[in-house]
Amino acid sequence: MRNKIIIGNWKMNKTPKEVKAFFKEFNKATFKARPKTIYGIAAPACDLSYALDERPNKKFVISSQDISKHLSGAYTGEISALMLKEMGVTYAIIGHSERRTYHHETNKDINEKAKIALENGICPIICVGETLEEYESKKSKKVVETQVKECTKGLDVTKVVIAYEPVWAIGTGKTATNDYAQQMCAVIRKLTSDKTLIQYGGSVTPESIEELLKQPDVDGALVGGASLKVDSFIKLIEKK
Ligand code: PGA
Repeated sequence: MRNKIIIGNWKMNKTPKEVKAFFKEFNKATFKARPKTIYGIAAPACDLSYALDERPNKKFVISSQDISKHLSGAYTGEISALMLKEMGVTYAIIGHSERRTYHHETNKDINEKAKIALENGICPIICVGETLEEYESKKSKKVVETQVKECTKGLDVTKVVIAYEPVWAIGTGKTATNDYAQQMCAVIRKLTSDKTLIQYGGSVTPESIEELLKQPDVDGALVGGASLKVDSFIKLIEKK
């Protein structure tokens, strides 16, 4: 049986003070976490050290939202795997659709970033997913297959996480149906392995997560909006 993995993607939200307030409230709460589930949050770069200091324990994983494809040098504004690793960051979201759109990241960039992450002990969460236009023109399967193939080229796919996030479902309140999420995650499974953890992302809520996690090829969720508040985040990760 594969583990589950639920990661809150905070995107560009929360100042250091707000991160501290989140964990102050989170650490006071009493709940039982889902069994065999990796959980944590992906914080903005400047918040990572606060999140690492304030998290309840090491079981609560901290992820970055990006990583440089270089290890060091003249790359202003970038953050390397070595830096993240030394801090205690263990996951990195790579190729989120917002980075593909606003920063023009390509499958090749994402592949290089995932490679350097893996080589330096950081688990890449590689994001894939079709746009609304591609979905409507029935190209989803083909687009996602190409993304997965190109982004994981030459990598040990048993050691990466893939987040399937249809772009039309991100931040829109339009979740894919459970069947559709399963169907697409099964496509990804065929190109990866039985050991690969595959998340669904896109308007996941505490209400929708339960049925999603029952899908045989959905091993977890990457959650934006619903991960920002402590009570909602806890509802995502607590044992039912
Ligand atoms: P959302 O974001 O849950 O707010 O739709 C998900 C994501 O972009 O990872």
